Amino acid sequence: MAFIHPIIQAIAIVIGPYAGYLGWQRFMRRRFHWKRHIRVGFAFFVMIITGTVMGFAITYFLEGGIFKTGFHALLPFIIVPLLSIGAILGYILSKRNKGRALPTLHMSINYFTVLLIFLQAYWGVGVLTEFLGSR
Ligand code: HEM
Ligand code: HEM
Repeated sequence: MAFIHPIIQAIAIVIGPYAGYLGWQRFMRRRFHWKRHIRVGFAFFVMIITGTVMGFAITYFLEGGIFKTGFHALLPFIIVPLLSIGAILGYILSKRNKGRALPTLHMSINYFTVLLIFLQAYWGVGVLTEFLGSR
């Protein structure tokens, strides 16, 4: 049960950079897999949100409360809003071409959020090691 959250997030951490790679093709004006980028980007968004909810739920059930994991419990409050803005911008971009500013903003927010998610995973592995050590 304790592993559901790390597994979802570990898969998301592979999918996110892939969405970023597909987006990079657009930025470089190469052949851009428009539909695949949207599908993969959206899957990434859904997995991080689901994974975050699962993280809190599992901590609640196993530890009897939340906010037990220091920074790992706090960074999601930055990650989730940023990723949501990135996804909303992506949705707007998928409906209509909006010039250069919005794609650049979409790209910057999403790349920055992926970096934060790497940091979150690094802390997560620390939390997991501690959790396993305490059993
Ligand atoms: C809900 C998820 C997402 C949707 C619906 C979405 C949609 C889009 C669309 C429609 C474009 C083309 C914009 C245009 O050129 O007019 C685009 C570009 C791009 N996306 Fe996403 N995207 C999503 C998630 C992501 C994620 C997670 C990343 C990074 C990890 C990302 C990185 C990029 C990049 C780098 C570009 C190229 C920007 C540019 O040309 O300057 N996207 N996205
Ligand atoms: C592979 C990467 C990750 C690993 C190994 C990991 C591991 C863990 C572990 C072991 C817990 C504590 C469970 C417990 O105490 O019973 C936890 C909690 C949590 N995780 Fe992760 N995690 C990862 C990635 C993420 C990501 C990417 C997010 C969100 C963006 C996230 C959000 C949370 C939240 C919100 C909690 C609950 C924190 C609390 O209330 O103390 N985790 N994680």
